[in-house]
Amino acid sequence: MFSRDQILENYTDLIIAPLSGFTIKPFRQLLREYGFKGLYYTEMLNPYEIKKGKVEKIDILDKESPVGVQLFGGYKKGLYKETMNRLKEYGRFDIIDLNMGCPIRKVVHSGGGVHLLKNIDEAKYILKEIRSEWDGPLSIKTRIGFTMDDIDNTIVKLKELLVFEPDFFSIHFRTVEEKFTPPPHWDLYKKFKEELKIFIYLNGGVYDKNTIKYIKRTISPDGIMLSRGILYDPFIFSEDKGGLMKKISFSKKFLRYFVNSYGEKRLKETRKFFAYLFKGEIYSREFKKKVYSAQNYDEYIAAFEIYDYEL
Ligand SMILES: Cc1cc2nc3c(=O)[nH]c(=O)nc-3n(C[C@H](O)[C@H](O)[C@H](O)COP(=O)(O)O)c2cc1C
Repeated sequence: MFSRDQILENYTDLIIAPLSGFTIKPFRQLLREYGFKGLYYTEMLNPYEIKKGKVEKIDILDKESPVGVQLFGGYKKGLYKETMNRLKEYGRFDIIDLNMGCPIRKVVHSGGGVHLLKNIDEAKYILKEIRSEWDGPLSIKTRIGFTMDDIDNTIVKLKELLVFEPDFFSIHFRTVEEKFTPPPHWDLYKKFKEELKIFIYLNGGVYDKNTIKYIKRTISPDGIMLSRGILYDPFIFSEDKGGLMKKISFSKKFLRYFVNSYGEKRLKETRKFFAYLFKGEIYSREFKKKVYSAQNYDEYIAAFEIYDYEL
């Protein structure tokens, strides 16, 4: 397990966000294989899933370190203490994250995500319970506010969380109202940094290597947290130029690892990966059609033949 200092000393540059449905074991395994050494997270996890023994999402390999687990959900007395104790039984994660940034209805209705940003006392109760059982690395993922009028208010609230000694915040620089689409307000990074005086990962809208360079040059954040960027280009973190052929070999390996982990029956779950990965590539529509009609492993692999002939 990595100490708090090690997490920050060695992995400050680029980290990968928890992505529900995406940061699954076979995908994470491949990222490591392709050379990503930084911190990444499993899919987010609700405490009740752990309580019910649904722990597939935290099937973490020893060699995956450094890896984090993100919790989402509402406050209930004793729940997070119990969750931390159960999580520790697995013992393989390096850092715990609290989701305070997700605007999706299911998450907000559970009392988590941005509900906690609105009701900061509930976030405090949760963090207090987490901290009572866990003095290791802790991060908090959130947004800049509900609307652009809400920025100062958010900063005041986030300051109140500093007593729980989070190691860093990762902040998605879009408002809740903006959801996932408009250009993020990276220009607000400096304000958050100056006010909070804590390590902050900039998150949102970083989809290619040039943007990484641009942000480093103009904003110079403590670090960048990638999200959809890693889905559009799984080589975004490396010197490797990537490109279509590399994406194809990545995909074929991914299919193999996926079947090894979950069996052929669940292959449909891989379609959404290809939708991101091949977006904007030549013949992506034809490829998508083939992938969406594939019924078994061989047919998924055969979908890539479209590129054998045409390149
Ligand atoms: C498919 C998908 C799944 C996501 N899952 C999570 C999640 O489990 N936990 C979380 O905190 N944020 C989640 N997010 C939000 C991202 O981590 C990130 O904050 C957001 O997408 C903005 O960054 P981007 O523009 O670089 O994608 C998800 C986003 C997407 C698109």
